[in-house]
Amino acid sequence: MTTEPIDSTLQEHRLFPPRPASELGFARWHVGSLDEYHKLHRRSLDDPEGFWASEAGYLSWFRRWDKVLDWTPPDARWFLGGTINACFNCADRHVQAGHGDEVALVWEAEPIGPQTSHPAPGSAYANEPEVRRLTYRDLQVETSKVANVLKRLGVKKGDVVTIYMPMVPELAIAILACARLGAVHSVIFGGFAPHAISERVLDADSRVIITADGGYRRGDIVPLQQNVEEAVRSLANPTHGGGAHIVNHVLVLRRTGRQPPSKRFHTGHAPDTLPGSATRFHWWHEIEALVSDACPCEPMDAEDMLFLLYTSGSTGKPKGIVHTTGGYLTYVNTTCRLTFNMIPDAGQLFWCSADLGWITGHSYVLYGPLMNRVPTLMYEGAPNFPTLDGGKGDRFWDIIARHRVTQFYTAPTAIRTFMKWGDELPARHDLSSLRILGTVGEPINPEAWIWYHATIGKGQCPVVDTYWQTETGGHVCTPLPGATPAKPGSCTLPMPGIDAAVVNEQGEELPPNQGGLFVIRRPWPGMLRGVHANRERFVSNYWSRVQDPRSGEPYYFSADGARRDPDGYFWIQGRIDDVIKVSGHLLGTMEVESALVSHPMVAEAAVVGMPHDIKGSAICAFVTLKSKWFTENPGNQPGDDLRKELAAHVAREVGALARPDQVRFADGLPKTRSGKIMRRLLRDVAAGVEKITQDTTTLEDFSVVAKLRADEE
Ligand code: WTA
Repeated sequence: MTTEPIDSTLQEHRLFPPRPASELGFARWHVGSLDEYHKLHRRSLDDPEGFWASEAGYLSWFRRWDKVLDWTPPDARWFLGGTINACFNCADRHVQAGHGDEVALVWEAEPIGPQTSHPAPGSAYANEPEVRRLTYRDLQVETSKVANVLKRLGVKKGDVVTIYMPMVPELAIAILACARLGAVHSVIFGGFAPHAISERVLDADSRVIITADGGYRRGDIVPLQQNVEEAVRSLANPTHGGGAHIVNHVLVLRRTGRQPPSKRFHTGHAPDTLPGSATRFHWWHEIEALVSDACPCEPMDAEDMLFLLYTSGSTGKPKGIVHTTGGYLTYVNTTCRLTFNMIPDAGQLFWCSADLGWITGHSYVLYGPLMNRVPTLMYEGAPNFPTLDGGKGDRFWDIIARHRVTQFYTAPTAIRTFMKWGDELPARHDLSSLRILGTVGEPINPEAWIWYHATIGKGQCPVVDTYWQTETGGHVCTPLPGATPAKPGSCTLPMPGIDAAVVNEQGEELPPNQGGLFVIRRPWPGMLRGVHANRERFVSNYWSRVQDPRSGEPYYFSADGARRDPDGYFWIQGRIDDVIKVSGHLLGTMEVESALVSHPMVAEAAVVGMPHDIKGSAICAFVTLKSKWFTENPGNQPGDDLRKELAAHVAREVGALARPDQVRFADGLPKTRSGKIMRRLLRDVAAGVEKITQDTTTLEDFSVVAKLRADEE
């Protein structure tokens, strides 16, 4: 932790009160006034066990719990003795209740007929994207088949299955199939590079990977299978990472059909192995044809692990966040219902544009809507495909209009991009089906909020700015659409059950408008249960910074700075650790630094975030070169070629989302006397606040400014 939160000077006075449910076409609001919200919140804190027991009652349990909560800080166990299955609650339960033929999931492919050089196989119309609708019964049958496939590949309850796939229905099916048989899913975002895959597979000790022969992205094909092959090969190599890790099976979905007819695949009976490794590759469709479509849902203990999801931290190594079954499902079910006013059989169609590779996708593309029995929309591709003149796109608005989406949930970085593309794009489409708009991932600038509300919501739809984290499982602070007057830029008030506060280092609650640490003072069902195989990191990252000044009980610390205004509204000021949010995605500066230092010419690297209009933050890397470079390039200074090479190297090592926007060469990095890199100074230099006297196109000399600042850091 390097910096203190800064007191914000932004004063936002615009207030958007909630409107009657009937004006928005809802039969009712789940929470219909601010007063009702306050009562609910009060009750949830006065009697947390009673409150959460009634919320858990919305789900279908095989065995009811004996005890709601066991809290031995920092370890919480929820719904002890209860057994439940996530897939059952998303599919089978609805089938049993007579809703088997209702649509659960609507999926739209990216490719559109002649506008792409890679038309989707099975696309029904030349000029329309392929759309698939899966009912709850389809989900039951398909997840049963895949669960049987996984069993055939030796997967047992508690094993970790890694999933690295494009946004296709089979991704949702693969995740739910794991849950069905009690395997732990670990989804890796399809934009990550081979190194990121092997790191996560190794940490999770995962032996089975599910992937696809490719994924469509902006008309191109992402080589998912090749990336997996590279990761699997490097893991099997004992010189890599210190030990051999054998991935036993890779299940490959045929998505693009662009894979040259490979000798690697025979049939499910006789799979081929990857040269140089013992890993067997199987085509999904071949092996699926061999199994039965009946598979019971495994009763899981409420505290059995449901999934692992890796997130960036302030060290180079990603953290495997552990979520368990009963508490996570309860929390996601409640937050999804309240924040988006979900009501089954009311003609709702919910669209969260996040990728399933992130927590937002897990909780609000998949589990939340399916448990609530509200159909969920999944879109495979990018907002600017097909591209209009100048690289713009109106695909999202087209999707909302064609499918009649009622609740739409996206990220501020996307909203800022849409703003830049101009009002004509949404104006071409009928967006009148929209009822609620949501945002997540980073603080939203009030101007982007206003634009979203006015241009997309036509001034009618409530905007819910949902603040939460991978670690929290679901929304922590958010307006409730029928209850909370919204202020643009504020995530407003805590969810029922959440005891949030802004405190100082001593754990004392701060007066209004004073910046401090955002903490949660007691456990909630959706909280992380650990960092996989790293107890120390779990305790030190989340539970060691602040405690209750009286009892000494640790508070959950989010690593975000925040302030509360006189109305008690929370204003999140952003991360105060060495983690940056680039286009809403968390990246550890250390991850990028490690990637840079792995380049043969780089001696040292320091990475900081710099303000960016669209991405929120962009990456600026300061790099010092090995003397080797100067010996090999006598009389030269490093220039654009090397900059490009280093940026490409990071994209190759970590993934495209980590590609630095700026690479700046320095003579040496500014350090304190104790040898710590002066990141605050570098941040100021990157933001242009602090000028370097040197010509910054060549080598930067920090010695002067560093001396001036040495005592401050
Ligand atoms: C940031 C994403 C302000 C915050 C769900 C948090 C936000 C981090 C908001 C978690 C918001 C997320 N307002 N900041 N509405 N939502 N954040 O784990 O810094 O990818 O700590 O989870 O995103 O990112 P993660």
